[in-house]
Amino acid sequence: MAELQRGLEGVIAAETKISSIIDSQLTYAGYDIDDLAENAQFEEIIFLLWNYRLPTKDELQELKSKLYEYMTLNPRVYKHFEEYVTDKVHPMTALRTSVSYIAHFDPDAEDEADEKKYERAIRIQAKIASLVTAFSRVREGKEPLKPNSDLSYAGNFLYMLKGELPTDIEEEAFNKALILHADHELNASAFTARCAVSSLSDMYSGIVAAVGSLKGPLHGGANERVMAMLSEVGSLDNVDNYLDEKIANKEKIMGFGHRVYKEGDPRAKYLREMSRKITEETGQSELYEMSLAIEKRMKEEKGLIPNVDFFSATVYHSMDIPHDLFTPIFAVSRTSGWIAHILEQYRDNRIMRPRANYIGETNRKYVPIEER
Ligand code: COA
Repeated sequence: MAELQRGLEGVIAAETKISSIIDSQLTYAGYDIDDLAENAQFEEIIFLLWNYRLPTKDELQELKSKLYEYMTLNPRVYKHFEEYVTDKVHPMTALRTSVSYIAHFDPDAEDEADEKKYERAIRIQAKIASLVTAFSRVREGKEPLKPNSDLSYAGNFLYMLKGELPTDIEEEAFNKALILHADHELNASAFTARCAVSSLSDMYSGIVAAVGSLKGPLHGGANERVMAMLSEVGSLDNVDNYLDEKIANKEKIMGFGHRVYKEGDPRAKYLREMSRKITEETGQSELYEMSLAIEKRMKEEKGLIPNVDFFSATVYHSMDIPHDLFTPIFAVSRTSGWIAHILEQYRDNRIMRPRANYIGETNRKYVPIEER
């Protein structure tokens, strides 16, 4: 049997045209992430990841109008949310359950025709934004809002969350953040989505599985914990004491390290700069200074670099977004990547079925319960 690769490190488990990480550079369908982050709109990225090419004006317009059309949720979803609020569930748990629930209202959820799958993809990408924003509003005792189709996907998300139009700077920063989080080759949640649908299960099942994977602190759950860490650190003076203790106890520092990038995460520079700008504008520069001090010390002491989650935390915090929505927001963006992986898996499917080395006991005989 082949040699064990813990955490599947270095194992090639799929062929893809969606995104690549080569020499620490991330590309989506052959476009450098730098080019896309500077110039594109998140809606174009959705189309790019699903079709391996940028949309024409008409194609983009068609995608946008369908996204806004499908953002409406069945009112029973809001009723469900009231129960989640009573149970005080985390928004990521609410998202996992509610993605599964909205499948009940999709008349074509099991239809395998290609055009139905593509339509379902748009439906899920639309509704995921409504689920996160509506849950947050129901939790705050506010009415969920209808989408505002004059805004971009990014701007509309902020509008549906807060009930007020975002500033240009907020919309631009959020659009960039959505682009930077959209896909990342065979990350844990994309792989989970592929595994789920490799049995030819439906797209909703793939997204539910992926949300569950992203939720963990070693993956998307890290961004919320970065903010918790910054609150715990409290001030710039306390950074060294805090890290001394964590490093001595061999505890992980959230927002650092990466399986693939060892020199630098190409997404982090944008988020670092966004964090600088937005913390300055909102009078919270100390949070940025603390982040830089942590980054410097982690590099010196452990050779570890910040990943996408480290600076995104202060960006979202400065936009006044509740900390427990950081990971659901990651999910809203990454849904575009998950769907791309699901569609690609369907196109050239073979069920995922690796092997395990059995290391337990052997040759045991059943002993009746009275004799144990
Ligand atoms: N803080 C402290 N030490 C860390 C660390 C962190 N954030 N990330 C990795 N390390 C250490 C590990 O303990 C390990 O040390 P060891 O060799 O002495 O055992 C070494 O660096 C290698 O890390 P490893 O756990 O093998 O990396 P991985 O590829 O299995 O895991 C992550 C990658 C991202 C899961 C891991 O770096 C991590 O847990 N980071 C924190 C969570 C996070 O920010 N996740 C978001 C990812 S985008």
